[in-house]
Amino acid sequence: MRFEPFKIKVIEPIAITTKEERLKYIENAYFNVFFLPSNVITIDLLTDSGTSALSKYQMSAMMLGDEAYAGSESYYKFEESAKKLTGKNFIIPVHQGRAGEKIITTSLINRGDIVISNTLFDTTRGNFEFGGAIIYDIPEEHSLESEYPFKGNIDLNKLEDLLKKFERKVKLVVLTITNNSGGGQAVSIENVKRTKELCEKYNVKLMIDACRICENSYLVKLRDENYKNKTILEIVNETLKYADIITFSAKKDGLNHIGGFIALDDEKLADEFKNYLVLFEGFPTYGGMAGRDLEIIAVGIMEALDENYLSHRISQVKFLNEKLYNLGIPVMRPFGGHAVYVEAKQFLEHIDENEFPGQSLVIALYIEGGIRAVEVGKFMFKDAKYNFVRLAIPRRVYTYSHLEYVAEVFENIKKKKDNIKGMRIVKESKFLRHFTSHLEAIDNWHLKV
Ligand code: F0G
Repeated sequence: MRFEPFKIKVIEPIAITTKEERLKYIENAYFNVFFLPSNVITIDLLTDSGTSALSKYQMSAMMLGDEAYAGSESYYKFEESAKKLTGKNFIIPVHQGRAGEKIITTSLINRGDIVISNTLFDTTRGNFEFGGAIIYDIPEEHSLESEYPFKGNIDLNKLEDLLKKFERKVKLVVLTITNNSGGGQAVSIENVKRTKELCEKYNVKLMIDACRICENSYLVKLRDENYKNKTILEIVNETLKYADIITFSAKKDGLNHIGGFIALDDEKLADEFKNYLVLFEGFPTYGGMAGRDLEIIAVGIMEALDENYLSHRISQVKFLNEKLYNLGIPVMRPFGGHAVYVEAKQFLEHIDENEFPGQSLVIALYIEGGIRAVEVGKFMFKDAKYNFVRLAIPRRVYTYSHLEYVAEVFENIKKKKDNIKGMRIVKESKFLRHFTSHLEAIDNWHLKV
């Protein structure tokens, strides 16, 4: 859909700053955009997580929030929506996705267990590794430019080889749908089905990280002939029926700023999860969320299934992807569900990989246009294959003119890209260094763009 399928009722002013101001702000932030206060950012594409705009239906539902410790009325509405989405009988509410991951790790993972995935998101990986697991990420191999519609798939041959090789040591197979760390790419239903068949053959549980399942289902509808006449809910249910365990961060397709759940059919395991739920999160009828959040998510899940909404959502991602592609900026193709991924090493080929071309592009985007993006390359993961810069689009927040502006900023950067040089870390954090490290611009290049 070419225009926003909503009218704007409440507005939030955004910062309009000068280049001189931005140079000062980025120096004060040690060239790390995580240190920038959000009131100096013009377009914030750092994440699509917890950044959605609420609808008037969600705002009015919020006022109905039942804040009772036990038996909250709001919980039952939340549970109904979560059951409708997942088709599962037991819903374990958590305050965000990673809290669910912690409960699953505590219940299931033992030191030396193996977890195999199409690509785990960082917190999922972090939790499983914390529990002592060894992780194998085995996405299907495709080139950056390949237009293959389901580049988020797991490699089924490698999966079978690993299941054969490690047998009972494999504790879980996890499909992240869409595949966030793999470029926000879609996973096909055929791939989910075949993965489940292998899991059954080798008696391993299949977990689906379903936080962007509505977006994935829309991409399935667009790209798989067999599903073009199905509703989004039918596609979601068809995908999730293969999962033994589902995790869902409601900060994405729940259209809320916080929240999530685990869903499953295995009663015994659900009871075990509930023991940890009470310990880590809260009573099973709120699980770390306020009653008002349960209400917002109950409505949000239903809105995320709406085809007009999804058509607009995915069209925005496509629009930005194509604008940049047509400008000759190397982007991952085809468009994914929530973000555009720019390959910075290909764009700034004169910058050595060890001088973080992705972070240089992130800094240039801020200096040139007040845009905040995030590096997902060698700065974030030392062994990263690509040097991506992720432009994640918040849901229902920006209009096409905001995205046009982002493309204009890229056009301007392209003209002076030869002046951009690398970055150097001057203070490095021990864990997850991209969040807190301090950097500098080599030869003070930032003053010359
Ligand atoms: N799984 C995936 C695929 C995610 O993208 C995220 C979060 C999580 C799990 C964890 O959920 O934040 O609610 O604890 N992704 C955000 C992002 C942070 O920017 O991609 P959470």
